[in-house]
Amino acid sequence: MEIVILPTPEECASIGGRIIANLIKRKSDAVLGLATGSTPIPLYSELAKIHKDEGLSFSKITTFNLDEYIGLPGDHPCSYQFFMKEELFDKIDISLGSTHIPNGEAEDIENECLEYEQAIKSSGGIDLQVLGIGSDGHIGFNEPGSSLGSRTRIKTLTGKTIEDNARFFDNPSQVPRHCITMGVGTIMDSASLVLFAFGESKAEIISKAFEGPVSAMVPASVLQLHPKVRVIVDDAAASNLSNIDYYKEVYANKPDWQE
Ligand code: GLP
Repeated sequence: MEIVILPTPEECASIGGRIIANLIKRKSDAVLGLATGSTPIPLYSELAKIHKDEGLSFSKITTFNLDEYIGLPGDHPCSYQFFMKEELFDKIDISLGSTHIPNGEAEDIENECLEYEQAIKSSGGIDLQVLGIGSDGHIGFNEPGSSLGSRTRIKTLTGKTIEDNARFFDNPSQVPRHCITMGVGTIMDSASLVLFAFGESKAEIISKAFEGPVSAMVPASVLQLHPKVRVIVDDAAASNLSNIDYYKEVYANKPDWQE
């Protein structure tokens, strides 16, 4: 696990953009796992910029998003489908047919979840999964208490997540109570992962998740068991970590042979 601490979200996004661009240069048909929320927005702007300025093509890329609210139509401004089009897909040359987001309006939700798992498998698996983290430690929408081996399924949002995400809606009563999310086990199957967190409001959960015990009560902590994880945080989100100096030292002195 590598913890990278940089002063600002923009600098974190710039490193994230490079990691993804390098992957696509190595493997033009890479499979990316994508996240929503406010955290990945600077990363998506960076990718759009790399596409525009450097001509990086996403035309052969396949994507799978982590989650979607149940009951919101895809054209609802708070749906994750809408978010992804606005923040990334409309700004790059990706083929929309190669993007996947769970269908929160599916009549048979259970079958939708099974098919989502199958589609990930058929694509060859996710090469790199982008993650944010909820203030209660959730990844995707895997709330505290989620099985660390869980697969894509329906979940009920906690009061804390509803409260956190209410800022995107006109009022809290409009936040859906249910969602479809990749499971923790699904996320852990990715070949590599990059988790971003910005701001002081994430400081406490970042230290619990990456310097505390692995626990289903902090789902992001399971990433400690994955062999290829980068946690990229700004100074504010890192402020509660006890080993800050060491993480900075490691990053500043990375040998050239290490990517
Ligand atoms: C939502 C998403 C998560 C995301 C989290 C954090 O709950 N399902 O994938 O990590 O929000 O959101 P933000 O980045 O806005 O803090």
